[in-house]
Amino acid sequence: MDFKYVILGGGVSAGYAAREFVKQGVKPGELAIISKEAVAPYERPALSKAYLFPEAPARLPGFHVCVGSGGERLLPEWYSEKGIELILSTEIVKVDLASNTLTSAAGTTFKFDTLIVATGSAVIKLTDFGVQGAGSKNIFYLREIDDADELIEAIKAKKDGKAVIVGGGYIGLELAAVMKINNYNVTMVYPEPWCMPRLFTPEIAAFYEGYYANKGISIIKGTVAAGFEANANGEVTAVKLKDGRVLDADIVVVGVGARPLTTLLKGQVEEDKGGIKTDAFFKSSVPNVYAVGDVATFPMKMYNEIRRVEHVDHARKSAEQAVKAIKASEGGKTVDQYDYLPFFYSRSFDLSWQFYGDNVGEAVLFGDSSPTSPKPKFGSYWIKDGKVVGAFLESGTPEENKAIAKVAKVQPSVASADQLTKEGLTFACKI
Ligand code: FDA
Ligand code: NAD
Repeated sequence: MDFKYVILGGGVSAGYAAREFVKQGVKPGELAIISKEAVAPYERPALSKAYLFPEAPARLPGFHVCVGSGGERLLPEWYSEKGIELILSTEIVKVDLASNTLTSAAGTTFKFDTLIVATGSAVIKLTDFGVQGAGSKNIFYLREIDDADELIEAIKAKKDGKAVIVGGGYIGLELAAVMKINNYNVTMVYPEPWCMPRLFTPEIAAFYEGYYANKGISIIKGTVAAGFEANANGEVTAVKLKDGRVLDADIVVVGVGARPLTTLLKGQVEEDKGGIKTDAFFKSSVPNVYAVGDVATFPMKMYNEIRRVEHVDHARKSAEQAVKAIKASEGGKTVDQYDYLPFFYSRSFDLSWQFYGDNVGEAVLFGDSSPTSPKPKFGSYWIKDGKVVGAFLESGTPEENKAIAKVAKVQPSVASADQLTKEGLTFACKI
C-alpha cells in the first residue's frame, strides 16, 4: 500500500493531524493513519477520568477527537467520507527510512512520501526493574482503551475491594480518586516527600494530599513497592513496601511514568531528551519525516530551550503545526514557528486545576488552600528575574483560567512576592 502521507500512531495527535489535513486539502487515498489500537483516534485523557466512573461513564463514540477542545467529533465514518485510510489493529514493527517503508507485525508493507510519527508514549512497568511478583494478575497500567477496559472488569470483579495506587504523579492522583469513587478502599504509595513533584510545590501538594485524606484515601510517602504477593490463581493479594510494610490489595494501579515510543526510529533520526529531535515545524533530521505529540523534542521558543511535552494540548497543537508546515512547504511557502505556551491540567473529584507557563524560580501561593474549605480556590505564581513566568489555579472559572494563561504568556514584571500574595487572582485579572 502506497500513500502520500502516513501517520504512524492513531492517538490524539493523529486525529488532530487528520482534521488539519482535511482543512488544508487532502485528496482521497492520499492519507493513511496506522494504529495498533482497534478504535479511531479519541481523547486519551478521558481514560483516567469519566471512562472509569461507576455511573454514566464516558464511552466511545462519545469522546473521539476533537471534542476535547470543543471541536467536531470525528467518527470512524468521517475518515472514510474524507477518503482517509484508517488502518486499525495494526502494529508497525519496522520503519525503514531509506526505502520509505513501514512493515506491520502481520508482514504488510506500507510506503509513504511523508511520514508523521505520532506513536506517543508507553508506560514504564515495574517488571522493567524486575520488581518481584510485578507480573501478577490485577496489577494494571493505563495507557490505551484496552487497558481501561481490563481495569473496569477487575473493578467489577473485586467490587468494594482494596486498591493500592503506586505512583504520585498524574495517573496516581487521577486513579486514586476514580478508585475511591468506585467505592474502593484506596492507598497511594510514592517515593517523594509530596505528590506530583514535577509540578507541584509542597504547598500545592499539601492541599491535594489533605483533600484526598479527607476523602478517606491513605497516603504513604517516601517508599516504593518492592514486591507483590499473589494467591494460587496468580492474582495480587498484597504489596510489599521497601520500608517493610505490607498492604493488602485486590487491585494495584501503577503510574510510575512513561517513555516516548521512538524505538522504531532508533539510529535513523536524531534524538534529544529521549524524543525525536525536530525543528519548530516538527520536521525531524530526515526531511520527509515529522514527529509530533509526546515523541517530539522541539524548540520551545518562549524559553529558548529544547523540550519534550507529554500533555494533550501540545499533542493537538503540534499535530496541527506539522500538517500546516507540510502543506505550506508543498506550495513553496512557510508557516510561523511553533510558539508554544505550556498548558497542563487535571481533574479529580470536584477539583480541577490548570497550569500555564514555566514552574521555575520563586513560587508564591495565594487564595484559600485549606483542604477542608467548603469552596477551596487557590493558586500559585512563579517569579523568575522579577517576572511572573508561570501560574497555577485550582477551581478557576473559564475567565480566570484565561487570565492566568495570559499572565504566563505576557510575563509581567512584579515588584515583590508580597504583592502577588496580597493581590492573588486580581493580579492576573488586570493583565
Ligand atoms: P497517543 O498516546 O495519544 O497516541 C499514540 C498512538 O500510537 C496510540 O494509538 C498507539 O497505539 C499508537 N502506536 C504506538 N506505537 C505504534 C506502532 N508501533 N504501530 C502502530 N501504532 C502505534 N494530558 C493532559 O494534558 N491532560 C490530561 O488530563 C491527560 N490525561 C491522560 C490520561 C491518560 C490515561 C493518559 C495515558 C495520558 C493523559 N494525558 C493527559 C496525556 C496525553 O493523553 C498525551 O500527552 C497525548 O495522548 C499524546 O498524544 P500522542 O498522539 O503523542 O500519543
Ligand atoms: P508521572 O511522571 O506524572 O508520575 C510518575 C510518578 O511515579 C512520580 O511522581 C513518582 O511519584 C512515581 N514513582 C516513580 N517510581 C516509583 C516507584 N518505583 N514506586 C512508586 N512510585 C514511583 O507519570 P504517570 O503519572 O505515570 O503518567 C504517565 C503519562 O501520562 C505521563 O506522560 C503523563 O503526562 C500522562 N498523563 C497526564 C495526565 C494529565 O496531564 N492530567 C493524566 C494522566 C496521565
